[in-house]
This record gives sequence, C-alpha cells and structure tokens, in this order.
Amino acid sequence: MKAIGIIGAGNIGKAVATQSLANDFLVLISNSKGPETLTAVVEKLGTGAKAVTATEAAAADIVVIAVPWTKVKDLTRLTDWNGKIVIDASNRFEQGNGVEDGGLASSEVVQNHLPGAKVVKGFNTLFAGVLAGDPQVGNGKRVLFISGDDKDAKATVSAIIGKIGFAPIDLGPLAAGGKLQQFNWPLASKNFVIL
Ligand SMILES: NC(=O)c1ccc[n+]([C@@H]2O[C@H](COP(=O)([O-])OP(=O)(O)OC[C@H]3O[C@@H](n4cnc5c(N)ncnc54)[C@H](OP(=O)(O)O)[C@@H]3O)[C@@H](O)[C@H]2O)c1
Repeated sequence: MKAIGIIGAGNIGKAVATQSLANDFLVLISNSKGPETLTAVVEKLGTGAKAVTATEAAAADIVVIAVPWTKVKDLTRLTDWNGKIVIDASNRFEQGNGVEDGGLASSEVVQNHLPGAKVVKGFNTLFAGVLAGDPQVGNGKRVLFISGDDKDAKATVSAIIGKIGFAPIDLGPLAAGGKLQQFNWPLASKNFVIL
C-alpha cells in the first residue's frame, strides 16, 4: 500500500486523508505542533492513519501540502524535495492574484519554495466539505482539476485521483492551468460533475 504524506491536518488535510484511507492508501498526517497533538484526529480517521512529524510526512513518496499559503515557505528545509511528487492544495488567499510575485501562479511560488519538487496543483478547487464527500454523484464523478510541469508526476496524481473516485482533468502547466485553479480565478470553488 502506498503512503501519502500530508502536511497540514486541518480541513483539507483531513479531507484528503479521508478519501485516501477509504481507497487503500496509508496516510501519514502532520502539523507544526507535533504528532502528539493529532491523537484525536488519527483516531477519527481510523485504520491506516498515522500521526507523524512534518519531516516524516515530507519523506513520503507523495506529499500533499495542506497548510495556509503563507506557511509553505516554512517547509523548504523539511526534506530534500528534489524529484518528490508534491500535490499543492494551498490557496493564496492572503495576497492578490500574483502581482506581488511578478505574476507567478501561486503554485509556481510554492515550487520555488520546494526546490526540485515535481509540484502538481490539486485538491484546491473544492471546498473541504465537498472534497470529503462522496465523489460519485448519480452516474457522474466529481471533477478534480490538476496542473503541473512534470508529465509523469501528473500521471501519478491523476491515477491517485481516479483511484479515490474523482475525475481528474489536466489543465496544463502551472503557469497556465495553475492560475485557472487558484483563488480568484475562474475555476476556484467550482464543483463540476462529469458523466
Ligand atoms: N478549507 C477549504 O475549503 C479549502 C479549500 C481548498 C484549498 N484550501 C487551502 O488548503 C490549505 C489548508 O486549508 P485548511 O482549511 O485545511 O486550513 P486549516 O484548517 O487552518 O489547517 C491548516 C493546517 O496546517 C497546519 N500547519 C500550519 N503551519 C504548518 C507548518 N509550518 N507545518 C506543518 N503544518 C502546518 C495547521 O496546524 P498547526 O497550526 O497546528 O501546525 C493545520 O493543521 C490552505 O492553503 C487553504 O487555502 C482550503
């Protein structure tokens, strides 16, 4: 069974954990305060969930970033990010549309904070409550958009999304698709179902 490391144990971290655990992944979930503060969280998540340090979560093959956008810069030194597949679920609420970052998509900034990581933006367009719910809607599947600059990483993330029951749609590279997905852009919070 593949382990998914999740950094951030709030609304989104728990939603991703719930869907992953329901579909035979192991989950290593973390926050900044330490695993001892996540006892109730892992008890509620159930079998297959383990509370770990953020460093241990970052050591997993697949790592989900589910912290406030302003905290992503604190993750740089957690591990050697080079070659690691990182799913960036963060949203840049705290700033505008990237003007502050020379027009970069928020996930390109995240990419810069995690040198060498294969960043795929994903799990960021649905509200956490929707993401945690049943991805099967009648005869359709709820859509999860992804974008990224590494084709193999996107294929891996698409496969994970498919396995947990959602329909992945690839929007292209971070500079284009990432922007479409991010806060204040057209696909933010959109909940589509594909038949
Ligand atoms: N909520 C939504 O519906 C939604 C939807 C799409 C995307 N997002 C995005 O997803 C991200 C998480 O949102 P959320 O609603 O899940 O936030 P949240 O409920 O506030 O949870 C954030 C988590 O990150 C942890 N954290 C903060 N700094 C950390 C650090 N340096 N290292 C490790 N863990 C750290 C927090 O724990 P400690 O403070 O205890 O460390 C907490 O467990 C945000 O970027 C948000 O914009 C949210």
